[in-house]
Amino acid sequence: MKKILKMTSILIISILGVNYTLAQEVNIYTSRHYDSDDALYSEFTAATGIKVNIISGSGNGLLERLKAEGKNSPADIFFTVDAGNLWRIQKEGLFRAINSDQIMNIVPVNLRGPNDEWVAIAKRARVIYYNPEIISPEQMQRISYEDLSDPDWKGKIAIRSSGNMYNQSLVASLISNHGVDMTEEWAKGLVSNFVRKPQGNDRAQIMAVANGEATLAIANSYYVGIMLSGRSGDAQLAAAKKVKIHFPNQNNRGTHINISGAGILKNAPNHENAVMFLEFLLSDRVQKYMVDLSYEYPVLESVKPHPSIASFGTDFKEDSTSVADYGKYNIDAVMLMDRAGWQ
Ligand SMILES: [Fe+2]
Repeated sequence: MKKILKMTSILIISILGVNYTLAQEVNIYTSRHYDSDDALYSEFTAATGIKVNIISGSGNGLLERLKAEGKNSPADIFFTVDAGNLWRIQKEGLFRAINSDQIMNIVPVNLRGPNDEWVAIAKRARVIYYNPEIISPEQMQRISYEDLSDPDWKGKIAIRSSGNMYNQSLVASLISNHGVDMTEEWAKGLVSNFVRKPQGNDRAQIMAVANGEATLAIANSYYVGIMLSGRSGDAQLAAAKKVKIHFPNQNNRGTHINISGAGILKNAPNHENAVMFLEFLLSDRVQKYMVDLSYEYPVLESVKPHPSIASFGTDFKEDSTSVADYGKYNIDAVMLMDRAGWQ
């Protein structure tokens, strides 16, 4: 006869009157990994007795691994960036609804996936970077994403390729608000305003504004925080000191928000531990720790972003378009960008 006694931290299996203690664990597949996260995981283990195993890789690589492992996957949690990537995992049928009142009370509905199968852990804005010596904050003030297709900006805008999920999600958010036809017209105008063929990552676009090659660049908010930290070298530090952030669409729906987020896998072998771990990520102290490293915005209202990113403004209006729409309209966005000639 086998009897299982579940406690918070350890599993005691009693077989024929003899107790065996099994260590508990939780397995996290993540495209987000900082060496310093290890200290955080040790604290979770100290508090709960649950060992944290991290399997890190690219979002795509981990998704392929999950699919290959199938029902036998040891993965409990998938933690990645961009709602579009979380949507792809959901579409494969790999997630399950997250059953935690605590998490649902913290994460607003617009920052969750359909059926509550994934939730935001941190937020990022996709903003416009500019050099205040070239264009004044007053001139920038009223500029929306929609305005970027205006011929006034011909040859002035830097943005990375349409293969990038951040851009696909931005375009999907415009489709959600304006429909495919209007967004396609907009994309054609935007493409005709590109200063160069899309190249490089978000930081390369910020560099293009700093060195005068472009007047405006679209990139995620946290990159300027990383660049200002000096973590990525003197050239990026110097460039970041030259630029400012403009939060578009303050007069209407607000600035485009995307997320770092996580879901619990359908076949998670350690389901309860996974719920506890997500609750841990959404606690005050851990939120503060994470956003101080990533320069993202916290999901918890009580937590403040890192002072370096907060210096660009914290009271901006956020677009409350559901991040689930970025997945829903992803294919439309990709096809539309292709038709618009966005390379
Ligand atoms: Fe990024």
